[in-house]
Amino acid sequence: MIKVGLIGCGFMGGMHSACYDAIDGAKVVAVADVRPEKAEEIAKVHGAEIYATGMDLIANADVDVVDICLPTYLHTEHAVAAMKAGKNVFVEKPVCLNEEECELLLATEKETGAKVQIGQVIRFWDEYVWLKEAYDKREYGEIQSAVFKRLSSYPTWAWEGWLHDASKSGSMALDLHIHDVDFMRYLMGEPDDLVSRAVRDDKGIIEQIFTTFNYGDVAVSVEGCWDYPADFPFAANFRVKFEKATVVNDANGLAVYPVEGGVIKPEIKPSFEGTHDIGGNLSSLGGYYNELKYFIEKLEAGEALEVAPLCEGVKSAKLIYKEIASVGGAQK
Ligand SMILES: NC(=O)c1ccc[n+]([C@@H]2O[C@H](COP(=O)([O-])OP(=O)(O)OC[C@H]3O[C@@H](n4cnc5c(N)ncnc54)[C@H](O)[C@@H]3O)[C@@H](O)[C@H]2O)c1
Repeated sequence: MIKVGLIGCGFMGGMHSACYDAIDGAKVVAVADVRPEKAEEIAKVHGAEIYATGMDLIANADVDVVDICLPTYLHTEHAVAAMKAGKNVFVEKPVCLNEEECELLLATEKETGAKVQIGQVIRFWDEYVWLKEAYDKREYGEIQSAVFKRLSSYPTWAWEGWLHDASKSGSMALDLHIHDVDFMRYLMGEPDDLVSRAVRDDKGIIEQIFTTFNYGDVAVSVEGCWDYPADFPFAANFRVKFEKATVVNDANGLAVYPVEGGVIKPEIKPSFEGTHDIGGNLSSLGGYYNELKYFIEKLEAGEALEVAPLCEGVKSAKLIYKEIASVGGAQK
């Protein structure tokens, strides 16, 4: 049984807690949050001990894994401390805010030998896993173009409003848009170059971004936005044009349109349907459960983390830093 210490009991901490509840090989034995009521809520589900801060948990709790669901600006100091304390670490995406933090994390991982996974959850999301498998097998030939979109209403839950402070979250571009950019890299590798356009709020913070990534003659368009009106339905869509078919994933589910005509609806069996629906973007715990289950199973087996290791989270974050720099910064 892998003993988990969960740091940060807000939105994602609640999601991870519900996932661990359903994973046989792991037990949350310690939780930490600076808001005692949030820590208590999760502690009572697992019978876990409570620590007042993340650093207190890292220094004192008897755990194998530290799972960091803190605001992004707090990821690096906690991940470094956890690795130095001999723990394996799960860090929510985006891994960190800047290049210096990326290098510190990579160096600490190397020095300590810790296993570190980043919460690039789309790599574990059923429809996207299906797309990756189809492309790896070249089921429909080569990709000619692709479009990825992630659109949402304004997120209002963040502790002390940290999501809307660009110095703490890196803006929507780093926080939300990274999901699709990371998946694009997982699917197709590193792009040759990019062109971004950003739309900002009255404080000059990026709220929407449109980026075209070029892979030779193949163009990939990625849009992210999180300030649509309150009742705007969350959308995580893709449309990939292959040589032999176009694959679409939208509110109607996954559909394959072969070049010769017709439509095929591939059956996607969710690996897991959550029973603890705590709200959020998508009602199923699917991808979140899958990524944590994978992490725990790899640790149990003593195997390398191949799907979303630290170095991959770092490469995706660095690509976003490049997009943000190209439009003049997260806040102007
Ligand atoms: N994978 C995804 O789809 C996804 C979705 C949402 C958020 N996230 C990421 O998860 C991370 C957390 O985001 P969130 O939405 O849960 O934020 P949140 O504001 O809901 O929760 C953060 C929690 O950390 C606590 N906290 C702050 N400082 C602390 C400290 N020093 N020690 C212990 N607790 C402390 C706060 O009280 C709060 O409860 C962020 O990096 C975010 O980008 C990922």
